Amino acid sequence: MSHKHRETFYPEGFEGVFDTHAHLYDEKLFAQSEEVLERALKCGVDTVLIPADSKKTSTLAVDYVQKWDGHKGIDLYCSVGVHPHEASSYDDSVEKFLADLAGERDKYKIMAIGEIGLDYYYDLSPREVQREVFRKQLKLSYELDMPFILHEREAAQDCIDILKEARKDGMLLHTPGVCHCCSCSAEIAQILLDMGFYIGFDGPLTFKNNKKTPRTLEVCPMDRIVVETDSPYLTPEPNRGKNNEPAFVPLVIEKIAELKGLTSSEVTRITRENGKRLFRIK
Ligand code: NI
Repeated sequence: MSHKHRETFYPEGFEGVFDTHAHLYDEKLFAQSEEVLERALKCGVDTVLIPADSKKTSTLAVDYVQKWDGHKGIDLYCSVGVHPHEASSYDDSVEKFLADLAGERDKYKIMAIGEIGLDYYYDLSPREVQREVFRKQLKLSYELDMPFILHEREAAQDCIDILKEARKDGMLLHTPGVCHCCSCSAEIAQILLDMGFYIGFDGPLTFKNNKKTPRTLEVCPMDRIVVETDSPYLTPEPNRGKNNEPAFVPLVIEKIAELKGLTSSEVTRITRENGKRLFRIK
């Protein structure tokens, strides 16, 4: 899309936006990395966390940060982990690989384990395997003392049960992580908030037919909200149909500002501070 069009949607007030979830190594975006990062900066997005979803993309996320961190001043971070879709690929050697990478967290700017969790919507790995791999990576997050990025879809109850079990075993951090791309009900969000989670909001919050996510946002105190794109997916209104990219996260900020009765610059500042506190960024 042209800059002219985009600037129509981004007035002043978006300085220092933190997109906490963008798969920038995805093939839909990777070939235009330079343009994607420069468009982000132009829209005020100067900090991005690149989450992994498999052994392969853990390497891609790390490589991306190595290559592009600092480009025109952009601040990039990443995570390593195996998504529930890929749970069948998880074994001891993958676990060792992730732990070894995370052991070099400062060098590689790895701030979290993830995405991990349960996805019963797509069921791309057997549910029993998903649960087992989720438990293993929860343990990894605890042992490494790193927050995790939770992916949960149509699996809220099992997810909560496993988290409670981890907490009972003393294996859940005080701030366990973020429920990314929140699609859960207000009731489930409240349980996660009570466990110390942050909640990540993205494009679906802006969808006109989505009544559920605005209700979930209502129960979230401002100091527990982070913004994300999940690029290249979940493009916010009015850009649906295009690939998502960090430059579009101000549209999510605008929606939160509207629903919470704040200014965009307040939401920008607060969500940035939250993201940095959550991922322990100095
Ligand atoms: Ni994602």
